[in-house]
Amino acid sequence: MKFTATALFAAATAIVVSADTWKITSLDSGSRSNLCALQISTCQNNCGGPDQAPMAFCNTTTLGWGCGCLKKTPDFDTWNWPVPAADCKGSNEACVANCNVESGDRSACFVNCQDTHKCNTEDAPVSYTETSDVDTAPRYVGPAVSYNGDNLGDLNDGNDRSNLVASTDDSSGSNGSSDASDSSSKKSSDSSDSEDDKDSKSSDAVSVFKTAGLGLAASIAAAMVF
Ligand SMILES: *[C@@H]1O[C@H](CO)[C@@H](O)[C@H](O)[C@H]1NC(C)=O
Ligand SMILES: *[C@@H]1O[C@H](CO)[C@@H](O)[C@H](O)[C@H]1NC(C)=O
Repeated sequence: MKFTATALFAAATAIVVSADTWKITSLDSGSRSNLCALQISTCQNNCGGPDQAPMAFCNTTTLGWGCGCLKKTPDFDTWNWPVPAADCKGSNEACVANCNVESGDRSACFVNCQDTHKCNTEDAPVSYTETSDVDTAPRYVGPAVSYNGDNLGDLNDGNDRSNLVASTDDSSGSNGSSDASDSSSKKSSDSSDSEDDKDSKSSDAVSVFKTAGLGLAASIAAAMVF
């Protein structure tokens, strides 16, 4: 991880180097694979088992993820899903690393990182990693708002969010039902167990109850902007 090296370098030398920019895809491939495996199993468990989770994906390259159950809307706190939680953690680490390379009040900077990165709580910054399907790349960077709708100000993770006002309207993944049928058809073409015969016959009729995370986040962000 680049920012870790930078943090160590900065701590050891106190030389000012350029700021780090966090993006979850900068995790190494082993970490991405582990994270995706955890994301998928968490979705399947929340749905009540793999056969209850027709839409449980995580792309090990892009970290785009989604969860949809057959019979319920996933009721796992969005900020605790493995990918969003890792996204917050990485942003926080970049924030701290950047405090070490910036001039100015370092302890105030650390406090700001703490205040803006209450990971695994509803005060955490919204993660823009949830997508409609496995081939759609996440947005990654969106307005700095928490899951409970607070404006968080500067996350100091190297990402420029100053021009995000106009883009809050067109966030991908916030739109409804077409992707659910995509994922059902993908499932029936991929898999070979006997259950799929009945699945594919009724795939048009199957509704998948998906997490509402990104749509909600986009609404919050849009509401905050105006
Ligand atoms: C992951 O996303 C990339 C880029 O969007 C896509 O090309 C690739 O096929 C996806 N991987 C899987 C396993 O679907
Ligand atoms: C949702 O999708 C429909 C049809 O693809 C489109 O007309 C509509 O503008 C979309 N709405 C949003 C909020 O993206």
